[in-house]
Amino acid sequence: MSRGLAVVTGATAGIGREFAEQLAGRGHDLLLVARDRERLAGAAADLATAHGVEAEGFDADLSREDDVVRLADRLARSPRLAVLVNNAGFGSRGKLAEIEVERQAAMIRLHALAPMRLTRAALPVLLGNRAGAVVNVSSIAGFVYSAGNANYCATKAYLTTFSEGVAAELHGTGVQVQALCPGFTRTEFHGRIGTPVERHPDFAWMSARAVVAHSLRCLDRGGPVVCVPGLGYRLLVGAIRLVPRSLIGWVTRRRYDRV
Ligand SMILES: NC(=O)c1ccc[n+]([C@@H]2O[C@H](COP(=O)([O-])OP(=O)(O)OC[C@H]3O[C@@H](n4cnc5c(N)ncnc54)[C@H](OP(=O)(O)O)[C@@H]3O)[C@@H](O)[C@H]2O)c1
Repeated sequence: MSRGLAVVTGATAGIGREFAEQLAGRGHDLLLVARDRERLAGAAADLATAHGVEAEGFDADLSREDDVVRLADRLARSPRLAVLVNNAGFGSRGKLAEIEVERQAAMIRLHALAPMRLTRAALPVLLGNRAGAVVNVSSIAGFVYSAGNANYCATKAYLTTFSEGVAAELHGTGVQVQALCPGFTRTEFHGRIGTPVERHPDFAWMSARAVVAHSLRCLDRGGPVVCVPGLGYRLLVGAIRLVPRSLIGWVTRRRYDRV
């Protein structure tokens, strides 16, 4: 028996692909969203075969408003919708004064505007069913600000705060919202922006499988809304909340200037 439809954005690689895998493993049918059509079709076919669920690809560039509206419309017309994972995202590196502005504008649309619109489209359906969840894949980066990463950190801070606010609005409805805040996770993310993974020590890395398993465990337990995978990262978030904000600027500036 299907446990309802799970919609995963950025489902062809990394954390999104792992969400698709684990949600299919739990018996959800899938709507997989990304830009690369061929990869989408391959992922949908593989997951359908492996888990005996229905899986469909929906190609969309979620940094484009028309594509987001098209997907939002599809969500609003999906009465079996049970889980929405707003995961699609990308990183960048460089000082704002020196990097291409259009890519940064696209990042704001993809990390902030698209999840807001898609969550808004999903909620009436989920509330009607008195069940379901929206997972917004934010980042540990949303707890800090960083030289060389100003816009990325800001978009993830938006996504975390947005999720907390909507979760407060949904209290007692049976519908959950989660801000998933992973630290360094082995995916295609860092390769796509040319950051050498050796820059960070081995112990800092988590697998997408562990990140997603933790997210789903948080949902099973009914919280917390802000879900941070990995004990080391939970301790780090606690420490960040205690240090003066100015120290974060000093540390990230030194780090950026060194590499
Ligand atoms: N990896 C990390 O260390 C890490 C840490 C914290 C948070 N995160 C967050 O986790 C999320 C997933 O990242 P990941 O590490 O799994 O990255 P990834 O391996 O690079 O996968 C990104 C996925 O998003 C899709 N995508 C990218 N731009 C898109 C767009 N404009 N419209 C639709 N789909 C798009 C990609 O497919 P197409 O290219 O075919 O569209 C791909 O399926 C992101 O929001 C990221 O910020 C990652």
